[in-house]
Amino acid sequence: MKQPKELKVKPIKNGTVIDHITANKSLNVLKILNLPNSESNLTIAMNVQSSNLDRKDILKIENRELAPNEVDQIALISPNSTINIIRDYEVVDKAKIGLLNEINGLLKCSNPNCITNTNEPVENKFYVINKEPVTLRCHYCERLMEEHEIESQF
Ligand SMILES: Nc1ncnc2c1ncn2[C@@H]1O[C@H](COP(=O)(O)OP(=O)(O)OP(=O)(O)O)[C@@H](O)[C@H]1O
Ligand SMILES: [Mg+2]
Ligand SMILES: [Zn+2]
Repeated sequence: MKQPKELKVKPIKNGTVIDHITANKSLNVLKILNLPNSESNLTIAMNVQSSNLDRKDILKIENRELAPNEVDQIALISPNSTINIIRDYEVVDKAKIGLLNEINGLLKCSNPNCITNTNEPVENKFYVINKEPVTLRCHYCERLMEEHEIESQF
C-alpha cells in the first residue's frame, strides 16, 4: 500500500506570515502587497483546514514586513487575519488585524459624480457601516460600497 510522502514547506528565517485569511482571499491580499519582481520566497496555502473546521488561506512572505496602510487594506477583504512577524525562524510578534471605523485615502468611491472623483483636492473617506460582509458609506455622497466593489479595487 502506498503511503503519502510528507511534503515539508521550508520555514522562513525572517518575514511575515499572514494567517487565518478568509478562504480564497489570499490572491486579493497579495495584490495589496504589490510584490512585483520580488525575489522573496513566497508560500501560498489556499483553502486549508483551520483548527475550528473552517477553511482558511495562509501567506508566508520572506524578508517582508507590512506597512500600516497595507494592514488596513487587508482588513477590508479579510478582517479576521492574524499577522505574525518572524525573526530568526520564531514568531516574535502576533497581531489580529481589525477593521477600522473609518477608511481614509485607500479606496475610490464608485459614484463617478462624487466630489472625490473630480479634480477637487478632496481625499476619499468612508464609514464602515457593516463589518461582515463589509459595507462602507462615502462621507461625501453617501454612496454605499459593497464587498464585491471593494474587492474589485485590489
Ligand atoms: N519560521 C516560520 N516559517 C514559516 N511559517 C511559520 C514560521 N513560524 C511560524 N510559522 C507559521 O506562522 C503561523 C503562526 O505560528 P504559531 O506558532 O503562532 O501558530 P499558532 O499557535 O497556531 O498561532 P495561532 O494561535 O495564531 O493560530 C502558523 O501558520 C505557523 O505555521
Ligand atoms: Mg493556528
Ligand atoms: Zn462618494
